[in-house]
Amino acid sequence: MFTELLRMFDAAATPHGVDRYVELVAPAWSSTEVRGRVVQVERQTPGTVTLTIRPNHNWTAFEAGQHTQVTVEIDGVRHTRCYSMASSAHAGDGTFELTIKAQPDGLVSNHLVHHAEPGMVLGLTTAMGEFTLPGERPDHLLLISGGSGITPVLSMLRTLEDEGYAGRTTFLHYARSARDMTYREGLPTAVKVFSDDPAGGDLAGLVSAEQLDAADPDWRTAETFLCGPAPLMDAVGEIYVQAGCSARLHTEQFTLPMLLSEAGGSVRFNESGLTVESDGRPLLLQAEAAGLNPASGCRMGICHTCTRSLVCGTVRDAVTGDLTEDPGSPVRICVSVPVGDVAIDL
Ligand code: FES
Repeated sequence: MFTELLRMFDAAATPHGVDRYVELVAPAWSSTEVRGRVVQVERQTPGTVTLTIRPNHNWTAFEAGQHTQVTVEIDGVRHTRCYSMASSAHAGDGTFELTIKAQPDGLVSNHLVHHAEPGMVLGLTTAMGEFTLPGERPDHLLLISGGSGITPVLSMLRTLEDEGYAGRTTFLHYARSARDMTYREGLPTAVKVFSDDPAGGDLAGLVSAEQLDAADPDWRTAETFLCGPAPLMDAVGEIYVQAGCSARLHTEQFTLPMLLSEAGGSVRFNESGLTVESDGRPLLLQAEAAGLNPASGCRMGICHTCTRSLVCGTVRDAVTGDLTEDPGSPVRICVSVPVGDVAIDL
């Protein structure tokens, strides 16, 4: 009935739709879009911000480990990025928490870290992502995170705590120093490794099988959930392969290695009529450098928001190395680099 009424109002409010009028007085409200109001802002460490967000009625539940796409308007242009929920999936007050770290040249992350304040309204999507705990909780879990990769695994830990999880959990976290570690106060039992202050952590040095032994002697049989920067992900992945237990390693990567191809050749953005000389970076970055603002979300090949059609030429998926050369093929431009001359439907 309510939906029917909304549809009638929406038709009557054409051409703008009912949302455009209601958002003048209630910006977080929308008949169809997921939006959230920032109700609390905390700056735990230099260069990060923790936002408590109350989503509108279009939000649905999330599973620990999932992320949402956050859209903010900066200088009149809407920009979207992915951030993982850090709170328990069972938080009873209808809010959830995101912690965002300012990335070098990160337009959205820097905007939120420096300008977020209570009352700010963010565009959101319903929760997405496959990096989640099995429905039947394993008896033994190892959670490993590095830097801002702490958020999805912290959500898992908090969710398990709320469920009264009786299994065994080890939380291993890598940060530069105690000062750089978000949520440090709330994680007294976490095993910490600080790269810039080895003596200040519980273990020292780079991740190794010996270090995992020290953190949890039974890690080879633990279901392991890992999120962090690319070098940590690669190193842990290799250790699990060597140990023959990579089937137990579940990963989410939120930073990409530097994706580059040979510079040179031309990139033509067909719809825009722009052609630039390729600098070898992913097509999304080259489009933005050319002044375009294509839709994007995660910017690391997960969400498919940036997908465009290849018009001609060849692109390489810089994560998998796969080549795409058939005209009309869908291309995730955030992780695709040109190989020679390329035209893309953008
Ligand atoms: S922006 Fe998410 S796949 Fe490209």
